[in-house]
Amino acid sequence: MHLTSDPPDLLPPPVLASDAAPVLQAPPLVFILSSVRSGSTLLKAMLDSHSRIFAPAELHLLPFDHLGDAQRQLNGTVLGRGLHEAAARLVGEEQAQQIVESFYANNTPVAQIYQWLQAQLDGRILVDKSPSYLGNPRILQRAETVCDTQPLYIFLTRHPFDVFDSFMSNGFDRLMRRLRLNYERIRKQAQPGSSDWVIPYHPSPDNRCKTSFEIAEATYVNANRTALEFLKTIPAERQVTVTYENLVHAPEAELEKICRLLKIDFESAMLSPYKGTLPQETVVDPKFYLHQNVSTQRAMKWQERADDWLSHTYAADTVDLAAQMGYDLSHAPSRIPLTPAQAVFFKANGAVAHFCLVMTTTRRDSAGLVEQMRARLPALLQAFPGLRHCFVQHEGRWTQKCLPVRSFEVPLLHETFEAGTAGEQAFAERVGALAQSISLEQAPLFRVLVGQFAEHEYRVAYVFHHLLLDGKALLAFHEALWSMAVLPAQSVMAYTAAMQQLRKNYPLAPAQAALAALIAPCAPLPVHERSEQGVITRQIAYAGGKGYRFHECTLALEHAYRAVYPGDSAVVAHRIHRRRFDSEHDYTGLVAWLAGDVPLACTAEVSVSRHSRRMKREMKDWTALSLAYDWLYLDNQLPALPERVRLRLNYFPVPEGDMHETRVDLHQSGGLRGDYLIDFIVRDHQTHAEIIVRFLQPAVAQAQVHELLEHWAVALEGMH
Ligand code: A3P
Repeated sequence: MHLTSDPPDLLPPPVLASDAAPVLQAPPLVFILSSVRSGSTLLKAMLDSHSRIFAPAELHLLPFDHLGDAQRQLNGTVLGRGLHEAAARLVGEEQAQQIVESFYANNTPVAQIYQWLQAQLDGRILVDKSPSYLGNPRILQRAETVCDTQPLYIFLTRHPFDVFDSFMSNGFDRLMRRLRLNYERIRKQAQPGSSDWVIPYHPSPDNRCKTSFEIAEATYVNANRTALEFLKTIPAERQVTVTYENLVHAPEAELEKICRLLKIDFESAMLSPYKGTLPQETVVDPKFYLHQNVSTQRAMKWQERADDWLSHTYAADTVDLAAQMGYDLSHAPSRIPLTPAQAVFFKANGAVAHFCLVMTTTRRDSAGLVEQMRARLPALLQAFPGLRHCFVQHEGRWTQKCLPVRSFEVPLLHETFEAGTAGEQAFAERVGALAQSISLEQAPLFRVLVGQFAEHEYRVAYVFHHLLLDGKALLAFHEALWSMAVLPAQSVMAYTAAMQQLRKNYPLAPAQAALAALIAPCAPLPVHERSEQGVITRQIAYAGGKGYRFHECTLALEHAYRAVYPGDSAVVAHRIHRRRFDSEHDYTGLVAWLAGDVPLACTAEVSVSRHSRRMKREMKDWTALSLAYDWLYLDNQLPALPERVRLRLNYFPVPEGDMHETRVDLHQSGGLRGDYLIDFIVRDHQTHAEIIVRFLQPAVAQAQVHELLEHWAVALEGMH
């Protein structure tokens, strides 16, 4: 029996301003945080069966300052009935009606409503399970302010596939659509500062989900992300995480965890939530009443249709978030945002299929080579998810997805060629044909060709779509293929997530001003859509076998450039690999395309040491600056670099070791819109440099490139 005193005692306390100090309450309030369809009604019912707990139907109070707001926003939805039903359980139907009406009439602050509820409980603990609190972080934040005693939190998680399935098969997509329409109607009339709407997925304009599946995914991600982020700010002794799967399979252990948090003894009645008379509640999951006991049948139900679930693609956020909650979706293909390098390429050139990076290397006396590669390649595919990426268009935008290893055959071809020039020629043609055979939308976007020229003599070619990896990644692939070392497992998803974080925090405005000022004097360069690509290669032996360093190579190039183009504004773009962008994030071993360019003004300085000091000073900012360039270009805030900057330097120190008789080529059809007029590639082998200059004719004449090379070699010699 609960309080049945005279009506005056039941009337709510006088109205406080909504910013009044919270009212002292004890014991602490308890909130269940969970996405819809996670088994929260079951958990609430289990808790409600404890003699020291009162866990009513969904209250949906936190989003509001007072019930006037709630009335306008919840009007027409069942969500508005929870408080009435809770009050009816405490003081009977008739008085509940009176009380709740007076709450409305007096605009009673929500903190006082909690206080009133607790006052009826004789010291029992009030558990509020209202999924709308995870609609946005601001709502949840209010939990910390509604009472003086610090609240406790129970985070309930469930496997995303089961939540999606439950969500769609129970019509929650329709409910969300209705809530959203309601939200938009109310937002139009909203007063500034009025309280938050309870729509359980983030109602930002760019989050207009179209399909039922997208709504399910967005709702799940939004709710769980809100909970996880919030719980990071709450001390461990005020929270506990339980999973739906454990709750049904091992309820006692899971409920004991909760009881420890609440500082109460476990009671076996909690295991039988259907025993006795169930409260008459409408703001709960109706399916709860279809069960007769705690059932394990719905847990990991998705596994019955595993192939369907696993062949679907999921947003990178979903996969990442699920992983944080211990649900591994890595066997499912996931939708992953493009790296900035990829996005820039798509924006500049569209979906060009024929754009491959090819590395060839010779192997002699290599018995068992093919078998060795056949054994090693699947391990590489597993360790470097980037190798399993292909590209998909989603709502008119390109993204990439990562496929499971088992979804395609390992692309290893073993073919024989005759020795001599004819065989070499045939091998080169075969490589060209393989490059042509790669299609952007079909994984894998690479082939490995083992050409056998004699019994133990092989030529191996890796043919990769360039959107998959850059020069550094090619090396990582090569090294991993021939070593037996344990493979690092870094995913492109981690990189893109880190990039998004970086972009959020990066001071773009000063970078934009600096970059815009730098390229302002560069006149637009000729459009070279139908250009022919010329390539000149040259080996330059360093005098006396003495090596040069990067700053010497660049200074020599700047001199050469000024000599050949005296009237030019002399800005050179430098290729940056962008794998390490702060002390925390290091993606050195990552197989993916991450490289981008940063523009730098040529210095007129002659002193090598001053130039070297300048380089050292500036280099640490290059990565961020080149990323800023990409972001600004993608936002149409700056023009594409190749439209303003004539020359790019791609300096590549070739590591010592097994790199002899290797060469790297780019296979592409004609000049692309995103190409530089002159691409000056230096492969620095310590004792000599291998120079490859790719240039677009007729805007650049062959004679100019030769001149540039001569000047460079002379200037370089002068550096010693
Ligand atoms: P399904 O739709 O997969 O069956 P919520 O209350 O958070 O919306 O969660 C609803 C889910 O909890 C539903 O999942 C429902 O079946 C499940 N559920 C409700 N009562 C249950 C019980 N007694 N045993 C197991 N699962 C239960």
